[in-house]
Amino acid sequence: MRNKIVAGNWKMNNDLNESINLISAIKKGLDEKNSKVEVIICPPFTSLETASALIKNTAIKLGAQNMYFEKNGAFTGEISASMLKSVGCQYVILGHSERRTIFGESDELINKKIKSAILSGLNPIFCIGETLQQREKGEAFKIVDQQIKKGLAGITKEEFEKIIIAYEPVWAIGTGKNATPEQAQEIHQYIRKKISTIYGEDSAEKTIIQYGGSVKPENSFQLMSQQDIDGALVGGACLKADSFLNIIQSAAI
Ligand code: 13P
Repeated sequence: MRNKIVAGNWKMNNDLNESINLISAIKKGLDEKNSKVEVIICPPFTSLETASALIKNTAIKLGAQNMYFEKNGAFTGEISASMLKSVGCQYVILGHSERRTIFGESDELINKKIKSAILSGLNPIFCIGETLQQREKGEAFKIVDQQIKKGLAGITKEEFEKIIIAYEPVWAIGTGKNATPEQAQEIHQYIRKKISTIYGEDSAEKTIIQYGGSVKPENSFQLMSQQDIDGALVGGACLKADSFLNIIQSAAI
């Protein structure tokens, strides 16, 4: 049985004071006895160090939203995996559709980032998912297939076991229009099968596959009760402590 993992991707929201307030509210409302659900928060870079201090001795884990694959050097504006580690991150979101579409990140670049993250001891949350156009053309399976193949190229079974996969259909992100539990389950099951052909059934069974895209308290229980949906990567609804806590609660049922 896989434990559920609920992660909050804050995106480009919350300055330092707002971050402190949100984390305090999440801490206050979190049922620490509920160890069945792992909780990750991914604030912007500028709040990571403070967040790390605030969640010390709690069950909340820290993740970043991006990184560059090089160790250091002349890469103005970029952040390395070891820098993230040094401020207490255990996770990093990679391959998010906003990075792919707005910032032009390719599968090859994402692959390099995944390798670099793992090498530094970070656990990647590797995002995949099709656009509306691709879904309407009947290409959803083909797209996730390609993203998995290219994103995980050259990654060993042992390395793969550090990765969380997040299926986020692009058409469901920030649109209020979530995939139905059945639509999501269909792709999650497919992803697990694909993983099994690459890394074997034992790895596939252990892999956490989160769903992301307009997850909210009203739909989180139904989504996460699907057999192959092992948690959620939450955007908008993680910016309010109440809705994030409700989603975490629904993962515990
Ligand atoms: P929304 O929950 O706002 O749709 O965002 C999902 C997402 O992109 C999480 O990474």
